[in-house]
Amino acid sequence: MMQVTKPGQLSLAVLASGRGSNFDAICAAIDRHDLNAEIKVLISNKKAAPVLQKAEQRGIKTFFINPGAYANREEYETELVKHLNGYQVDLVVLAGYMRLVGKTLLDAYKHKVVNIHPALLPAFIGLHAQKQAVEYGVKFSGCTVHMVDEGMDSGPIIMQAVVPVYQDDDEDSLAARILVEEHKIYAQSLQLFAEGRIWIDGRKVIIR
Ligand code: GAR
Repeated sequence: MMQVTKPGQLSLAVLASGRGSNFDAICAAIDRHDLNAEIKVLISNKKAAPVLQKAEQRGIKTFFINPGAYANREEYETELVKHLNGYQVDLVVLAGYMRLVGKTLLDAYKHKVVNIHPALLPAFIGLHAQKQAVEYGVKFSGCTVHMVDEGMDSGPIIMQAVVPVYQDDDEDSLAARILVEEHKIYAQSLQLFAEGRIWIDGRKVIIR
């Protein structure tokens, strides 16, 4: 069994592609002193992502790295890792980062890349998880914070939260209900890393 991070203030990098409500929630938790962390850098793969401006307004260093400018995932992630290495981060936090993560980034940050997914994994992996849940007819769905591995949404699970699915839900109404929980459990999960309580045992996360 291995402790993933030692207790103490976390240095975080955030990777994000979109509006950044999870980024906001993490920042709010830091401001409230519910999360002992500092966001050192935010990197987006989308030039127009609103999250870039949000981070700039907070005085966080931001970068746009265009995957299209690289021949393949390996070259793109080599550039990403080069940027990350300059900030000595403890964890790489994916917050609505809509790209598959490959070996290059994972080898550089083993067990230290975390993601939030808007479903109860292993159900409804990939895109439009909330729509998948509505169409399948499940009565409960939710969100999952997990470590990232080379599969799609398949890494060790850190924390989950459950919400009911109502008969008149559509993708948007379910997504909104799940998002409220995302904003709670992402910061809570990160605080467990800051407390040195996250251990890894094979494919299981043990909280000590
Ligand atoms: C969130 O619902 C997050 O769970 C989801 O994208 C949204 C990002 O919102 N992530 C994925 O689907 C990853 N596969 P945000 O930009 O407001 O945080």
